Amino acid sequence: MEDAKARTRARELRRRIREADRAYYIDDAPLMEDGEYDALFAELLALEKARPRLRTANSPTQKVGGRRAAKFAPFPHPTPMFSLGNTFSLEETRDFFARMRKLAGEAARFSAELKLDGAALNLVYEKGKLLAAGTRGDGETGEDVTANAKTVANIPQKISGAPPFLEVRGEVVMTFADFAKLNGRQRETGGKVFANPRNAAAGSLRQLDAAITESRPLRFYAHGAGGVSGAPWKSHSESMAWLRKAGFDLVSEPFASEDAEALSGYYEDKLTARADLPFAADGVVYKADLFRVQKKIGYVSRAPRFAVARKFPAERAAAKILAIELQVGRSGVLTPVARLSPASVGGAVVANATLHNLRHIKDGVLDENGGPAGVRPGDYAEIYRAGDVIPRIGKVFAARRKKNSRPWVPPSRCPSCGGKTKTDKDGVFLYCENGECPARRIAVMEHFVGRRAMDIDHVGGVVLEKMSAAGLARSPSDLYKLSKKDLMSLESFAERAAHNVLSAVDKSRNTTLARFVFALGIPSVGESLSARLAEFFGSLEMLQNAPPETFAFVRDAGTEVSSCVGVFFARPENRAEIKKMRAAGVSWGEKTFSPGSRPRPLADFFAAVSDLKYAVPEEKIKRIRGEYPLRGFGAAAAEKLVLKIGDMDKLESAALLEISDALDGNMALAEKMRGFLDDKHYRKVRAFLAGLGFIWGEGGGDEGLPLSGVTFVLTGSLSAPRGEFKRRIKELGGTAGEGVSAKTNYVVAGEKPGGKLAKAQKLGVAVLDEEGLEKILSEAADSAAEKEK
Ligand code: IVH
Repeated sequence: MEDAKARTRARELRRRIREADRAYYIDDAPLMEDGEYDALFAELLALEKARPRLRTANSPTQKVGGRRAAKFAPFPHPTPMFSLGNTFSLEETRDFFARMRKLAGEAARFSAELKLDGAALNLVYEKGKLLAAGTRGDGETGEDVTANAKTVANIPQKISGAPPFLEVRGEVVMTFADFAKLNGRQRETGGKVFANPRNAAAGSLRQLDAAITESRPLRFYAHGAGGVSGAPWKSHSESMAWLRKAGFDLVSEPFASEDAEALSGYYEDKLTARADLPFAADGVVYKADLFRVQKKIGYVSRAPRFAVARKFPAERAAAKILAIELQVGRSGVLTPVARLSPASVGGAVVANATLHNLRHIKDGVLDENGGPAGVRPGDYAEIYRAGDVIPRIGKVFAARRKKNSRPWVPPSRCPSCGGKTKTDKDGVFLYCENGECPARRIAVMEHFVGRRAMDIDHVGGVVLEKMSAAGLARSPSDLYKLSKKDLMSLESFAERAAHNVLSAVDKSRNTTLARFVFALGIPSVGESLSARLAEFFGSLEMLQNAPPETFAFVRDAGTEVSSCVGVFFARPENRAEIKKMRAAGVSWGEKTFSPGSRPRPLADFFAAVSDLKYAVPEEKIKRIRGEYPLRGFGAAAAEKLVLKIGDMDKLESAALLEISDALDGNMALAEKMRGFLDDKHYRKVRAFLAGLGFIWGEGGGDEGLPLSGVTFVLTGSLSAPRGEFKRRIKELGGTAGEGVSAKTNYVVAGEKPGGKLAKAQKLGVAVLDEEGLEKILSEAADSAAEKEK
């Protein structure tokens, strides 16, 4: 960069950082995300380092960021409050430890603790009594918030055995839950709505009326001592242990080590545990532990040289929406996607965010004040990763919207094939009407080859596009017809690539029914439902020919699923596809069930059918309409019928009077039952279910299975897909849940487990590795087999 340009840029950076500081520290209403601020700050630091002449005395890099609002009395800190330098990667952190070793001239021990994202507070104690409290301000002078600090419940007003003079430093924070509650209240009463828990904590602490502070759920967590009379402690960890004994809550459990790897491991652990923390943490702080070493290493202008904060990757970042584009889905839905100026979110660079549908763009996104904003090209928006995977738009910064911006209008033509588009009647979804739309056909195939579907390696979106362009593959069955010559005719396809594709396709010929059903891409039929359908019906024939009512017996499958499945198999082109794949050697294990092999309680039958309407074939597609045949029959009726009459078979041949007797003389109910039993259509349904091995009577059910009532939560990667383990758990009567709670019996941790492991440890839930799970499953399977004999 030329000198003049560098000077202008430095000036611009200083101005923007000052503006941001003001908004952050004084107005408690941040202008930008932390990540954006950190980037500006790092750029300025780098510029000034390269060209020291650009460094002005009052550059934000030369002092602590905060300032003091005029509304409070100044609070000169007895000892200055410092800021911290940052690192953002493992390398930078390693460099820091290496540098420290050199500066200290010895292998120094470091303490590690959480960096809480709150409002810094300095508490001054004299003779053990809380005398005064001040915010950080510019580090030299803060704001006097003594009256406010005295209302914070967990700040000790008196401490015994304290040095005559003691400063305690820490963060005032608000939990996420309290923050949400407070904002809810503020919205209702028309009060100030805070952008995040940090602002809520700072804003609540800095109230002129301390009674307001008192009404806010604030907590104080100490991260060290400031000035102290005498020299009571030799190290930071000693001082922290003392503070804890004196009654302070600490930012985190003390941890100290000389080993740079162990210290980095601490960061990884905290990063994993972050999602489960009740309040915001934005990193980990490393401090030379011995005060003697701290002194030797010393300070730079605004921060100790002996300490550093390794920041967590931002979970939210600001980005500009460059454009709104449409992605063609396998059902022909055109899903809007925001193309973004690249932003780093949760450690990954994000350049796209889903906008779900038309309604979402129009009024699904709010602005910084909680008002409806809509999303427009050119907007600045907050991006976050939902469940840390799919990037989404949190809110639009209406204040930064350009005057000449216009709402986005859905195009009348498909961007891929130029076919006409249409919106559904509610104006939520946009569709491409062209069934032959190549992008749509590619999307169908992409789903088919997916890891959780047919798992065909080496065939991704790009390869499918090439195949489609060359006319080699229009639909999934075409993949099984490909020859080496075909593939080698594709651009940049050498022999090896062709071989890889062919062997991956070949491998997929041998699959499972669950995978195949999922791969078909039937609307509303996801991965876990596919597995349940496969397990329930055992074969594709049974699934294809199933009367709609039978879906009511499959967990989480109802009318919607039955009609989607019905529509799918009614289409000749879908049947033809399956036939072609079969002919090409695609096969899956099929199960048949011997009569009576699946005993279930009669009450389960009633529970499934009582909310179901009568189904009649309507054109070729089976739809459900009409009466509720068994409404009013519940567990109590089932118990009586089983007790007096027996199972469904016996019930079928029971006389009306017999049934009414069993039902304590309730003739109306008995007639309903008899009518149901005699109905031709329901006879067929029962016969079909009998063909699947079900009998309905007294027992069976999951109650008898060895893992019934046992809940597992799986986290991290295991040697087989999680779905596979879940299936086995369920088969043995257990439950495989998603969230860890005190009710969870086991958390199974694979490699790289997520926050669920930390949560399990916190709640004292038993943790197993894969081997442990295998042991439980095989024992349970043995005991189930034992019972069947
Ligand atoms: S130590 C001598 N430890 O972060 C070092 N600060 O960016 C001074 N903070 O002003 C700070 N958690 O308000 C330290 N465990 C922790 C912290 C922490 C949060 C805040 C503190 C400081 C700011 C620096």
